[in-house]
Amino acid sequence: MSFLRRMMGRGDGQIPAACTALDIGTEFAKALVFEIDDSGHGTVRGVGRKRQGLSHMQSGTVADIAAVVDNCAVALQEAEEMAGFRPKQVVIGIAGELVKGFTTTLTQERKRPDVPINDAELTKLIDSVQKEALREAERSITWETGLPHVDVRLVHSAIVGASIDGYGLTNPVGFQGRHIRIGIFNAFAPLVHLGALQSVASQLDLELLEVVAEPYAVARVLGAEHVRQAGALFVDVGGGTTDVALVRQGGIEGTRMFALGGRAFTKSIADRLDLPFPRAESLKVDYARGLSIAEHDEVAEIVGEDAAVWAAGVELVMEELAAGEMLPSRIHLCGGGSRLPEVRDALAAERFWKRLPFARPPEVSIMSPDQVESISDATELLVDQQDVTPLGLAWQAIEIQTSEDPLDAALRRVLRAMKV
Ligand SMILES: Nc1ncnc2c1ncn2[C@@H]1O[C@H](COP(=O)(O)OP(=O)(O)OP(=O)(O)O)[C@@H](O)[C@H]1O
Ligand SMILES: [Mg+2]
Repeated sequence: MSFLRRMMGRGDGQIPAACTALDIGTEFAKALVFEIDDSGHGTVRGVGRKRQGLSHMQSGTVADIAAVVDNCAVALQEAEEMAGFRPKQVVIGIAGELVKGFTTTLTQERKRPDVPINDAELTKLIDSVQKEALREAERSITWETGLPHVDVRLVHSAIVGASIDGYGLTNPVGFQGRHIRIGIFNAFAPLVHLGALQSVASQLDLELLEVVAEPYAVARVLGAEHVRQAGALFVDVGGGTTDVALVRQGGIEGTRMFALGGRAFTKSIADRLDLPFPRAESLKVDYARGLSIAEHDEVAEIVGEDAAVWAAGVELVMEELAAGEMLPSRIHLCGGGSRLPEVRDALAAERFWKRLPFARPPEVSIMSPDQVESISDATELLVDQQDVTPLGLAWQAIEIQTSEDPLDAALRRVLRAMKV
């Protein structure tokens, strides 16, 4: 695994490679320092967290680079001190309303089905998929921002599946057949958002290894196989945003985000009870923990109302993701916002799922860090659903770099040629 050696800048392979994962959330900047052994298994050695100010982020994207760099530096330092070393490289998660993640699938009929597929043909096909995807992303971001020329960049790309004449393959090269089909997941973001993350990395003096679409990372973290079989919906409820990812029939199909998360609940409590934001936040957390508080009934009412509004948002994006077909009956929740019991209950309620194309009532479960098999936590500080997203990012750092999948290699060649 030459990547591992490269990461450490040495060839002996004795010392495990190391990397940092940075989840720059609306509410918290979270850092994980982890090691990677030769078999590609990760171990978290240090964790750090710093609360961000109200104006530092705007619905999941950086709004004040200098402030965010300061917050990340605090989180990083905490993680590095705990680990006792400082990795040079970082993976950063990207999220926010204008990050578009979707899978583009292209089926092509081959004129000469008896000729085996070669590298050049495969590369050409991947290239067509990517061009089509870029056009679609530009259309949708242009439409949403209302601006005619928004500079859109591809931030994350992965092969979801390939088949020839309906026969699933990991590498089509060398096969004969008529109908070749390939699906690629891509996440696009406006240049301004990607640029902000690059600045954060460089100001932290870290080399940016990858930018990863957060919902994609979350959807991959449980281990591909069992999710792939049955499909699932992943919902990350953060402070400022909710990210939804759909995995159906073998791969991730799409991701959507909307700008509503735990902070909206706090804001309502602050407004309605006329409290300063930090006081409302601790009241909400106490309430969610089931502690007895004097304002219990008022808080319950406010949270209930907000949960209904939030669930309507989830309904909207799930309907869009479903695209007229059935949704998998499994919903995995993560993110700090999902610690409010009402949030989980809202998705389990009949009035929510009845309006969506579920074959049966969805099973709603809360994800936990110990479900992540590919990475262990030596710090024992990653305890709940709020830590799942950063762990997902760490796993992506490993998965992307260590993949020896020939289709991935072909995809990387095309990406290099596209200069994205
Ligand atoms: N025990 C708790 N009870 C209720 N809410 C909680 C609890 N702990 C954290 N939260 C809420 O979780 C939210 C932060 O979650 P998280 O750290 O996942 O967000 P983030 O990643 O910073 O934001 P985003 O993903 O939107 O950019 C906050 O709104 C916070 O109030
Ligand atoms: Mg988050």
